[in-house]
Amino acid sequence: MTNQKRIFSGVQPTGNLHIGNYLGAIKNWLELQEKYQCVFCIVDYHALTVRQNPKIFQKKILEVAKIYLAAGIDPEKSIIFVQSDVLQHTELTWILNTLTKIPELNRMTQFKEKSERFEKNVNVGLFDYPVLMAADILLYQTDIVPVGDDQTQHIELTKILAKRFNKIYGPVFKIPEGLIKKEGARIMALDNPMKKMSKSSTNPANYLALTDSPEIIRKKIKSAVTDSGKEIKLDLQKPAVSNLLMIYHLLSQQPIQEIEKKYQSKGYAEFKSGLAEIIVEFLKPFQEKFQELGKNEDYVKNVLSEGAEKAQALAEETMKKVRKKIGLIN
Ligand code: AMP
Ligand code: TRP
Repeated sequence: MTNQKRIFSGVQPTGNLHIGNYLGAIKNWLELQEKYQCVFCIVDYHALTVRQNPKIFQKKILEVAKIYLAAGIDPEKSIIFVQSDVLQHTELTWILNTLTKIPELNRMTQFKEKSERFEKNVNVGLFDYPVLMAADILLYQTDIVPVGDDQTQHIELTKILAKRFNKIYGPVFKIPEGLIKKEGARIMALDNPMKKMSKSSTNPANYLALTDSPEIIRKKIKSAVTDSGKEIKLDLQKPAVSNLLMIYHLLSQQPIQEIEKKYQSKGYAEFKSGLAEIIVEFLKPFQEKFQELGKNEDYVKNVLSEGAEKAQALAEETMKKVRKKIGLIN
């Protein structure tokens, strides 16, 4: 057990979790939990960098926990917990802040994007977001961080901070590696294939939420943007159809070429209705489990509090070393 590689990842409890979050992140976690020691977090402090409604925030946090469980993350195998339950995350963030240079955060693409999108609330937390993420990862002596490709820059910074700390104070942190799968790491929006599918989009036609009903899924797929021409094939010139084809492939496990062949002489309409059924079928067992967990919230809360306890123990082990190296009174 102790020689097993450690995996850490997280999702923010905001908006509606979508098929991109599943294919880019959660799906890969399912494979990893069979082989490694996995820690999966619900990063509520990260979510606070954009204003949240206090009345529904707790519901959103529990929703992500239910999504993890319904997708197949097994609390017997993996640790599932809420970030704010483990105080060491903010403690280590402060220490890493003192090692982070302002230009290193200034160049973060996500910060630039969010500063434009939420121009009335460009808060210090939004700026500091990547340092909190580095603390998440480093606290658990993580080997591998499975994420979608939008997180590459944040993982690079995590490595820089770990190395910098180790160099100044002596070795404490393991240097983690990002795990970004070639396929599914960037599922594009249904209404615009040049932009990634985003759970905070104001247009619900942008994403396929994991909790969308079959009727909504059929409707959304039907109205998804397509490219000119009518061929169904994976092609850089056809970003919209390629994105739909990728979703089809990843959910059905059928090889791309086979799907292309199947729809060779058929139009977009037929392809889209086939795809909608693949998605509906895929989501059915997931949604059933999700509903069931909704009736059993005490169980979900219990998973989270047990997870927090285990996470705290691991985090404290690292923090003891950190405090000692820095010269703090333990
Ligand atoms: P977030 O939605 O920012 O909380 O992201 C949760 C996880 O899903 C992260 O690992 C992201 O990289 C991943 N992710 C988010 N959007 C997409 C997308 N459109 N395609 C693939 N992965 C994504
Ligand atoms: N920033 C990540 C996202 O938006 C979420 C996240 C926070 C995370 N801390 C993390 C992912 C640590 C992996 C590891 O998707």
